[in-house]
Amino acid sequence: MTSGVTLVDHPLVQHKLTYMRDKQTPSWMFRRLLREISLLLAYEVLRDLHLTSKTIETPLAPMDAPVLEGRKLCFVSVLRAGQGLLEGMLDLVPSARVGHIGLYRDPDTLEPVEYYFKVPGHIDERPVVVVDPMLATANSLSAAIAKMKGAGAKDIRVATLLAAPEGIERLKERHPEVPIFTCAIDSHLNDHGYIVPGLGDAGDRMYGTK
Ligand code: PRP
Ligand code: URA
Repeated sequence: MTSGVTLVDHPLVQHKLTYMRDKQTPSWMFRRLLREISLLLAYEVLRDLHLTSKTIETPLAPMDAPVLEGRKLCFVSVLRAGQGLLEGMLDLVPSARVGHIGLYRDPDTLEPVEYYFKVPGHIDERPVVVVDPMLATANSLSAAIAKMKGAGAKDIRVATLLAAPEGIERLKERHPEVPIFTCAIDSHLNDHGYIVPGLGDAGDRMYGTK
């Protein structure tokens, strides 16, 4: 495995991903599966969060018990499809802060077009997880990471469902220090920048648009 890339190959993730790829799977089930996978993905992405301790009293004795250190972490959803990963991750970490970056890919140039940006304050002190289910050319995630760096973020990681080898290489060239967590690395991109075999257009599959 390429350094800086973690493949989340848990059998439950792989099983659910197969049903997401299947073109017969309806939108409601696609969204549900993505939400379920996001819990397992977040578990891996957040494995290295730092702990400190606080003194509490159990019914039997005082103890120094572990709690997360520092400011609350921030999930940053790349709209639209990032919302599918975000919701499940918020179930796991309800106190997390949330940022949104609105980007869509121009179908001709495959370059991202930004239409929205809003992130919480003190972003330089928070672990930031940028979530987007698809890493294809990496143009969108590269732009999202650049925006987060511009906003001051220092500890950034990427959580994605499906990646193309070309996208991973490009993201590593542009942001070599940013760890990537993905549930699968597919074969290649087609001439329209779609991941093959992939699952199609994630936003369209989620919301029934075309
Ligand atoms: C999809 C996906 C990523 C992007 C990946 O979004 O959610 O953001 O494409 O492609 P890339 O790696 O080549 O940039 P899309 O632009 O279709 O927008 P949407 O989520 O609003 O449908
Ligand atoms: N965006 C998607 O939603 N799917 C792809 O395969 C590539 C980009």
